[in-house]
Amino acid sequence: MTVRFPQGNVLLRDLHRDYPVVSHGRGVWLFDTDGRRYLDASSGAYIAALGHGNTEIADAIHSQMSRVAYVNGLQFTSGPTEELATRLSRLSPAGLDRASFLCSGSEAVEAAIKLARQLATVRGDGERDKLVARVPGYHGNTLFALSASGRPHYKTVFGPLLSDVLTVSAPYAYRSPVDDFERDGADYYASELRDLLIAERGRVFAFIAEPVIGSSAGAALPPAGYFSAMAAVCREFGVLMIADEVLSGAGRVGTFFASEATGFSPDILVFGKGISAGYVPLSGLIVRRELVDELVAGGGSFMHSQTWMQAPVMTAAGVAVLDYFERHGTLQNVRRVGSHMQVELASRLSEQSVVGNVSGMGMLAGIELVADRRTREPFARRLRVAERFSARLFENGLVVWSNTGQANGVDGDLVMLAPPLIADREEVDHMIDVLVATLSDFTV
Ligand SMILES: Cc1ncc(COP(=O)(O)O)c(C=O)c1O
Repeated sequence: MTVRFPQGNVLLRDLHRDYPVVSHGRGVWLFDTDGRRYLDASSGAYIAALGHGNTEIADAIHSQMSRVAYVNGLQFTSGPTEELATRLSRLSPAGLDRASFLCSGSEAVEAAIKLARQLATVRGDGERDKLVARVPGYHGNTLFALSASGRPHYKTVFGPLLSDVLTVSAPYAYRSPVDDFERDGADYYASELRDLLIAERGRVFAFIAEPVIGSSAGAALPPAGYFSAMAAVCREFGVLMIADEVLSGAGRVGTFFASEATGFSPDILVFGKGISAGYVPLSGLIVRRELVDELVAGGGSFMHSQTWMQAPVMTAAGVAVLDYFERHGTLQNVRRVGSHMQVELASRLSEQSVVGNVSGMGMLAGIELVADRRTREPFARRLRVAERFSARLFENGLVVWSNTGQANGVDGDLVMLAPPLIADREEVDHMIDVLVATLSDFTV
């Protein structure tokens, strides 16, 4: 059975396709009510990091629900919320040790931006009213998070509702103007930021970046020394740094936070998605203690409040995820199986005529499909290559995530892979087999 508009009463995400009805999941596999199975090679949208039907997580959440599911963060704290904050502070870049919990990545990004702006006012820098983000980049779909997302095609309809956010180029090696990306990339991008901050003369309060760029530039890694060069510029101009780890954090790239793998020491780090492995909504931010001290000295508190902030049913899921990581050596699995995945993808896709670039780290990979490998010319958007190829993979029982627009804001076809972090070599090999076989049959 499938559902297609106008059947049912759900406002379906895509009003022009058939939706299989999922009945259950087990590990990396999803099953629909017709008995078909799908390898979830994107963990949904990078969230079901510990696979489906994981009873260790479900039982821990259930047990917390039976004790107390919800208390308001303004009135109470709770055991799991305290424990999750403490354990995340040990896993975070040095100095980040006060955490707050919300539901979605977009909310947490906006809360982090508000915190940075609040700090500017506490410091007497109220004239700092601008954020710098990168293009391409993605930070969420609520209005300010979308404003900060450097993906022009997302903004066409909602442009009049969005706020002005300044942008610099994101370091995507495959489409970088820098000839020797590894050697010269850090200086190039840091001087672009510096020029912008000079031009804006004291108006900028924060810079936001994904340590490893997730869906908007295909798991792109920064060049050597990039984040220390950007940090030096931010320090010089009194600009706070926000790491958006909603997608790349929680073990996805083989270190618990991707900032560790990329030498990023942010002032505020935002997490989401895999932190609850998709069992309940959970996101949050963790901030430097000194910055919280500044709020206290200014007589204030963090000016952000939402109903679900710090709710124990969510934070118990986060604690259960951390327990699972420790009990099952999940980070070791990501490093071991992830390096196998990266090597196999690079070698098996190298002969495919439409594959322009493969990048990634750990269990996150992006594949850019191009019309011409020599010139790196993207396919015209009207061909909808990423969408059509992903639909073929879906028919063949492989669920991936597609993205577009990274080449020039409109064109650019990406296929993203992010299998659950518990996947073994056989499951990863099966994923690559289906990918290669589908690619070999695919006609643009
Ligand atoms: C890097 C990044 N930040 C923020 C978000 C927004 O998260 P959510 O969809 O949970 O609001 C996403 C979602 O894909 C993301 O990839």
